[in-house]
Amino acid sequence: MPAAERPHVNQDELKRAVARAALDFVVPGAIIGVGSGSTANLFIDELAGIRDRIAGTVASSQKSADRLAGHGIPVFDLNAVDDVPVYIDGADEITAGLAMIKGGGGALTREKIVAAVARQFVCIADGSKLVSALGRFPLPVEVIPMARAYVARELAGLGGRPVLRAGFTTDNGNVILDVHGLAIPDPAAMEEAIDRIAGVVTVGLFARRGADVLLLGTADGVRTMRRAQ
Ligand code: A5P
Repeated sequence: MPAAERPHVNQDELKRAVARAALDFVVPGAIIGVGSGSTANLFIDELAGIRDRIAGTVASSQKSADRLAGHGIPVFDLNAVDDVPVYIDGADEITAGLAMIKGGGGALTREKIVAAVARQFVCIADGSKLVSALGRFPLPVEVIPMARAYVARELAGLGGRPVLRAGFTTDNGNVILDVHGLAIPDPAAMEEAIDRIAGVVTVGLFARRGADVLLLGTADGVRTMRRAQ
């Protein structure tokens, strides 16, 4: 449809559309991995409508766990769960190769853990999140508090400008450095380089384990993109 004839769709509607589309990836009778953030929140609300068809969930943040529980959806400790067939979560930026920046909401560590356990990662995002190169969104890095200054110097050495996220403590009791202005031509290599810095708990680059599927909300509908095999 020509752009001028398209009805105006706002960002929240696009998020809601992908949240709804993600229900097709929910495996009946299974434990579903659930992410964090505004798009994941909409997915949780959709999941409530089919809660009797799943065994329960594991959540990547306390906020998501609370929202799930509020809908009467069981939330399990990840240690009590053997298999998570699918993890559904948003992203702050995602490339066509399905590498992501995550952690805008500060839940990156638990997100990375649940994503690691899950067999399939389905990213749900509105069209504004698709980028040709990662790095315009400041890259979140969760850091052990005593290592904050050292890690900041190391991140500056990589070419970024780390800024302490003021007044914020993660669910794990750590701080976040948001790294501005970092060029990320090779997301997997940058993920590895930052992971190697002592005191870094998690970097919000999800490249070595990126998404398998992207459900992208656009004015023309939900576009499905899959990782090249
Ligand atoms: C939370 O820590 C993040 O990784 C979120 O998944 C990401 O920030 C996307 O959030 P929105 O859906 O609110 O844009």
